[in-house]
Amino acid sequence: MSGSSDDLFDYIVEKLANFVAEEEQRFHHPADRQRELGFTFSFPVMQTSINTGTIIRWTKGFSIDDAVGQDVVAELTKALKRKGVEMRVAALVNDTIGTLAGGRYTNKDVAVAVILGTGTNAAYVERAQAIPKWHGPLPQSGEMVINMEWGNFRCSHLPLTEYDHSLDIESLNPGEQIFEKLTSGMYLGEILRRVLLRLAEEASFFGDEVPPKLKSPMILRTPDMSAMHQDASSDLRVVGSKLKDIFEISNSSLKTRRVVVELCNIIATRGARLAAAGILGVLKKMGRDTLQEDGEKTVIAMDGGLYEHYTEYRECLESTLNELLGEETAKSIQVEHSNDGSGIGAALLAASNSSFLRERSL
Ligand code: BGC
Repeated sequence: MSGSSDDLFDYIVEKLANFVAEEEQRFHHPADRQRELGFTFSFPVMQTSINTGTIIRWTKGFSIDDAVGQDVVAELTKALKRKGVEMRVAALVNDTIGTLAGGRYTNKDVAVAVILGTGTNAAYVERAQAIPKWHGPLPQSGEMVINMEWGNFRCSHLPLTEYDHSLDIESLNPGEQIFEKLTSGMYLGEILRRVLLRLAEEASFFGDEVPPKLKSPMILRTPDMSAMHQDASSDLRVVGSKLKDIFEISNSSLKTRRVVVELCNIIATRGARLAAAGILGVLKKMGRDTLQEDGEKTVIAMDGGLYEHYTEYRECLESTLNELLGEETAKSIQVEHSNDGSGIGAALLAASNSSFLRERSL
């Protein structure tokens, strides 16, 4: 996550080579035919064609300075050559775009894709004419997809707490990805740690001493927060053992544990409600936030570990979306979990830009 560009792309190619080596016989390619790859790259890119694009900046704790401004596909292609792996990158695809393409392939009502995982982002189908940035010829369909990079949204109406501010300042990308820092999996646990630390320092929440481990950034992961939040045992056993395993806080009282659960709830609820507000914003932009006269449905393809595994977060997001849309409209909007939709979508886009298939007009 913090080496050189060559290290990163060599690592990816090594994994690719292992994958190819383990493939079943029936997937082996004839010697004269190059393998073609759909490359899901889940970071902000200035995309200049279906298989070229330069890295704008890193997010989610990555920090590989010499890769910024480089063409991702050219870097991967160089690494493929270095390692002697025969492969052509046929499509460079953000995970939201992959999820949108994968979802749309099986269901034509899919018009929005959202990722809620380590990071967050959304993509949607827009009328090409409504895109002032686009100066090229209009596509035949009249539509284009937009990768919003909504994780980088910030606005003076978005209230930030002191915990958000300090998390941001101490992060690898201060001032960037503010919406992501309020809503996504990489940060929710860290927000909770900061609140607990302040309670320990200013209210002796865990006794006279501040447990030293509470001061370690990023030590509390969101899956652990989710496990504490979901603890249904009468003595909040899971909370107790997480506090012990992660922070070496033993013998926490039930009262303390209850406060921890309440804090999980506050932080997850804020994140989920903001994510739902983001989705409503996209639906509004598309004119789909009200009942459609033709009865058309809108499906939101959703992927990411946070949505998949953090039940309270998911339920809160869905109920907030229904609340914002109102009962009637909510019936025409559906959120669908798309398991590894982004990988499948990238493969489909690679197939549609395959030079092998194009040469044979297939
Ligand atoms: C990246 C996006 C990506 C999202 C979800 C964000 O940090 O900037 O490109 O789609 O994470 O993986």
